[in-house]
Amino acid sequence: SKKVKSLPKDFLWGGATADFQYEGGFNEGGRGILSHDYETDGSQAHPRHHTMRLSDGQLINPKSSFILAEDIPDDAKPVFLDDQYYPSHQAVDFYHHYKEDIKLMAGMGFNVFRFSVCWSRIFPTGEETEPNMAGLKFYDDVINEMAKYNMEPLITICHDEMPMNLAIKYNGWTSRYVIDAYVKYAQTLFDYFGDRCRYWLTFNEINAVRGFGPTGVRQATGHDRYLAAHNMFVASAKAVSLGHKMIPESQFGAMYAMSELYPATCKPEDMFHHMQARRENWYFIDIMGRGYYPSYAEEIWQHHGFNKLEIAPEDLATLNAGQLDYIAFSYYRSNTTKDGDEWFNVGGSANPYLDETPWGWPVDPLGLRYCMNEIYDRIQKPIFIVENGMGAIDQADDQDYVEDDYRIDYLQQHLSAMADAINIDHVPCLGYTMWAPIDLVSLSTGEMKKRYGFVYVDMDDQGQGSLKRTPKKSYQWMKQVIATNGATL
Ligand code: BG6
Repeated sequence: SKKVKSLPKDFLWGGATADFQYEGGFNEGGRGILSHDYETDGSQAHPRHHTMRLSDGQLINPKSSFILAEDIPDDAKPVFLDDQYYPSHQAVDFYHHYKEDIKLMAGMGFNVFRFSVCWSRIFPTGEETEPNMAGLKFYDDVINEMAKYNMEPLITICHDEMPMNLAIKYNGWTSRYVIDAYVKYAQTLFDYFGDRCRYWLTFNEINAVRGFGPTGVRQATGHDRYLAAHNMFVASAKAVSLGHKMIPESQFGAMYAMSELYPATCKPEDMFHHMQARRENWYFIDIMGRGYYPSYAEEIWQHHGFNKLEIAPEDLATLNAGQLDYIAFSYYRSNTTKDGDEWFNVGGSANPYLDETPWGWPVDPLGLRYCMNEIYDRIQKPIFIVENGMGAIDQADDQDYVEDDYRIDYLQQHLSAMADAINIDHVPCLGYTMWAPIDLVSLSTGEMKKRYGFVYVDMDDQGQGSLKRTPKKSYQWMKQVIATNGATL
């Protein structure tokens, strides 16, 4: 018998983006320098890098957005070089195309659009006492434009970023000063947009903690990593409590990179290792979703080379008061792990049962259903799938039209798995925002040719092109899915 795919009446259908990959307008409207602004383009073979200068004048190019703290000397300062391309500066220019893009999204029937506010557009250095009004006006215009189509915002307050000044001056999230800067920033957003925004995400992929030191996007290790995470937990909880007070209808989540993780074999050592490795993710969800540090926290710290994290008693009360209302996550792929692998990993051992995208990401729709059940079983709060999609090389014809059947297949399979989790397993799921409805710049490689959209954007890996928007074949397909609320899946 055919399974019922139709979804709850108030299901939220939409798309998701991040400011520095989508928005551009880097030196407009008083925007300050953001941590991602010094990151160059790259590819799978040539990782993105940062352009920096040491105090003796020497230029260095530390690689990728996942660089570790110890990879960069303390005297390194970011510099812009004329011969480099920095994708965040223009991105795909939502800044000047927002009316057109919102209309295109509305044309598919979106009733929600997830975007991130650029922190340095609101507080250029993070330290001002008054916000930048031109920055607030931009998002005000965006939200008002969406309202014309009854599309509600899902705002990511912080998507893997911070004003560069905070990263350099305070070493980012290792400092408690940044908690206050964040809460002031969040409060400003609640003040200006709370009357039109119910759904909020305090952080994007918080379990991939970034936002330190001279590059602003490097990762700390060991004690510093967990200290930074703790400060983010406190910042998030303070924002949630404040948001609940300021916006009566508000619902708060944080977003986790929760692509599925399987043990490579059923060997007990692999199974046990898998449980420990998965806790590297649960650690973040448990603390923010349940409001307290889990019993296994100490074991995680010891694994990372330290015994204790100094946590003030008032922080524990803050975490308990500021629990999330729903758990949001990104799902692209599944991974496997075996005894002896690192605990925190994307990738791990090969999975012989799955095909991969051209970027080597295993395609696993059933893993999405598994993940939805896994999170709900554990936390017992509604979930929200806020990123899922397929990065692929699209061949546009001379009218810029793309027949992206591979993307339709990927989405069809994943949305069907989602519908099964909702209809058969009865997992409460608020909605689905596909990454990314309009083509934009890839986070990991900085490429344009790794495209996700329902809408093609005429731009190449070097930022050249007319920026013209053209719906792909998947655009019409998604429109049907939404119009029938999933029944055509
Ligand atoms: C998530 C991020 O990790 O994955 C997005 O929240 C990112 O910012 C997305 O774009 C897809 O990754 P990529 O590297 O293909 O852009």
